[in-house]
Amino acid sequence: MLVSAKEMLEKAKAGHYAVGQFNINNLEWTKAILLTAQENNSPVILGVSEGAGKYMTGYKTVVGMVNGMLEELNITVPVALHLDHGSYDACYKCIEAGFSSVMFDGSHYPIEENVAKTKELVAVCKEKGLSLEAEVGSIGGEEDGVIGMGECADPDECKSIADLGVTMLAAGIGNIHGKYPENWAGLSFETLDAIQQKTGDMPLVLHGGTGIPDDMIKKAISLGVAKINVNTECQLVFAEATRKYIEEGKDLAGKGFDPRKLLAPGFEAIKAKVKEKMEIFGSIDKA
Ligand code: 13P
Repeated sequence: MLVSAKEMLEKAKAGHYAVGQFNINNLEWTKAILLTAQENNSPVILGVSEGAGKYMTGYKTVVGMVNGMLEELNITVPVALHLDHGSYDACYKCIEAGFSSVMFDGSHYPIEENVAKTKELVAVCKEKGLSLEAEVGSIGGEEDGVIGMGECADPDECKSIADLGVTMLAAGIGNIHGKYPENWAGLSFETLDAIQQKTGDMPLVLHGGTGIPDDMIKKAISLGVAKINVNTECQLVFAEATRKYIEEGKDLAGKGFDPRKLLAPGFEAIKAKVKEKMEIFGSIDKA
């Protein structure tokens, strides 16, 4: 059964580790992530962007697929199904479809409007038992056509959103989605430290997990990050493994064109990447 991300993230924050949010795109992604979480006895959050939701034909399909897998694969570790960077409307659609967690990304609204909309969603999510992630200070890079500049959040604004009763808070600290450019200045630990001091026990969320060096990840966890989002890195290893299979001509040998064979190396690559991240994040055996 899907669970809210509240308990797993409170435990992570108190225990100084982080739970990974891995974004899903299709059946292979979902199965790879769920099996890896179960094999490593780790809690996990499945992230679904609005674009990925649309790709999978809609949120109800996603809920049906994930719930089916939890049962058929005997998944017993805590799993949250979470809308990633949701608009106000998408949050309501996912709540209705059966997600157990949503992110309302109001970072592009003026802070007053972000507060008002977040407040309303806090009440709805509380009533239905879902966890809610809010965002302050947009995350850089491109995701589903939305380009953020990677600003650093204002710690006072973070406090005003955290005080509304959200479950977890994403704050921009110089992180960006996708690959980091050569001249990236790194995470602003000064900002993160100031945010944690203002927001206390609130589990903080680090977006743009792809390509952040391990030492920075560990330092961010020591400063209150309890949820780390990874998307692009799984896409890269999936594409690389699939390319290798085809370049080696394996699709032309025997029944190598069968999608269950063709997609297997990419599936295994996602599993290995997710395990590697769970080790770095410290969530193994924390289910
Ligand atoms: P990456 O694609 O950079 O790993 O970022 C994922 C993310 O933050 C999803 O919200």
